[in-house]
Amino acid sequence: MRSVWVKTNSAEYPVHIQPNLLGNLAGQIQLSYGKTSSVFVVTSPEIWELWKETFLASFQKQKLDVHPLFVPPGERHKRLSTVERLAEELSRAGARRDTLLVAFGGGVIGDMTGFLAAIYMRGVRYIQVPTTYLAQIDSSVGGKTGVNLRTGKNLIGSFHHPVAVFCDPAILSTLPSRELRAGLVETVKAAALADATYFRWLEKNLDQLLKGEEKLLTESIQRSVKIKAEIVAADEHESGPRMLLNLGHTVGHAIEAVTGYRSLLHGEAIAWGILAAVSLSVERSVLPPSEAKRIEDLLFRLGPFPKFRASAKALLDRTAADKKHLQKSQRFVLPVTIGRAVVVEDVTPPELLAAIQSMLRLAGERGV
Ligand SMILES: NC(=O)c1ccc[n+]([C@@H]2O[C@H](COP(=O)([O-])OP(=O)(O)OC[C@H]3O[C@@H](n4cnc5c(N)ncnc54)[C@H](O)[C@@H]3O)[C@@H](O)[C@H]2O)c1
Ligand SMILES: [Zn+2]
Repeated sequence: MRSVWVKTNSAEYPVHIQPNLLGNLAGQIQLSYGKTSSVFVVTSPEIWELWKETFLASFQKQKLDVHPLFVPPGERHKRLSTVERLAEELSRAGARRDTLLVAFGGGVIGDMTGFLAAIYMRGVRYIQVPTTYLAQIDSSVGGKTGVNLRTGKNLIGSFHHPVAVFCDPAILSTLPSRELRAGLVETVKAAALADATYFRWLEKNLDQLLKGEEKLLTESIQRSVKIKAEIVAADEHESGPRMLLNLGHTVGHAIEAVTGYRSLLHGEAIAWGILAAVSLSVERSVLPPSEAKRIEDLLFRLGPFPKFRASAKALLDRTAADKKHLQKSQRFVLPVTIGRAVVVEDVTPPELLAAIQSMLRLAGERGV
């Protein structure tokens, strides 16, 4: 089994990656955590319907009780009210401080279950069993948990690391192709900012990855998790290097907000955001045009990405942290070469506006 260790000041845990790992989850849990009489699994009804037989088989063998708790799919359920309802259900079912929670779903389930684990009885242990590519390479690692407010995403939350992450690439066989492609945008991002060798590997293997080739998925999950684990180890609470992971996210988040989180998946918005960052870097002459083209080409192989309606001005306004910041220079992640990015503090509004306009032109030509 392949494993990547995440080591931070406050936690140390493995991310295990192996096809068909789900069929032996209970054994793995018993091995690592000794006697647990029962586990509570937070999942959504459709994921449970698809995977419950595989999931339950090993628990039945180990005579471990499984209590599923359900959350309907969709970002709109990532709310404090859902966490409260789940906590009531845990309490009613007799979950105690030594309870083990399992997050079995995409990033929405993972973020919410992590937060539930952080606050239920002032903190219980939890395991991540991510079922989307994005959750396997990104959201299940690093300990950020939380829920949304009406005023913005992830505004309530805490850092609470899982005790282990189990990634089974075979689970991705039921994931809609659009979700896989959007998740792969985040792996292109990780390679572009941290690992030129991995970037070349992606250029070579992307088409097979898109077909769901399990060996290649395993390799790419391992490499992406390693990048995230190293960055999180250096900077657990995002005061320094962890900001690099926000490559493409300044403009990407603005696109999501301006379009009301409806027309694009997160990864799709981030693809456009990376293209804006690439344009800004080229304009500043910090990224050679030939490397910019390689990033663009690789991203577009994950497309086509949806078009969206948004004016450059509206997007620029949304990139400022608040209205007071509108006129000021701001922090931004710039790719400088394939495999390296930097955080700068001096991106001016006109510069950012030009990058957004260039991205919108590209979106007009190549979006669908
Ligand atoms: N904590 C972090 O560090 C972090 C990082 C990145 C993103 N996030 C969060 O992650 C969330 C997005 O996660 P996501 O992209 O996984 O979306 P998601 O959890 O909404 O899942 C996407 C869709 O795929 C379905 N699905 C999941 N697994 C499936 C499977 N194996 N087969 C069939 N269908 C399946 C889900 O039900 C859902 O409809 C956002 O809320 C975002 O804020 C958190
Ligand atoms: Zn992201």
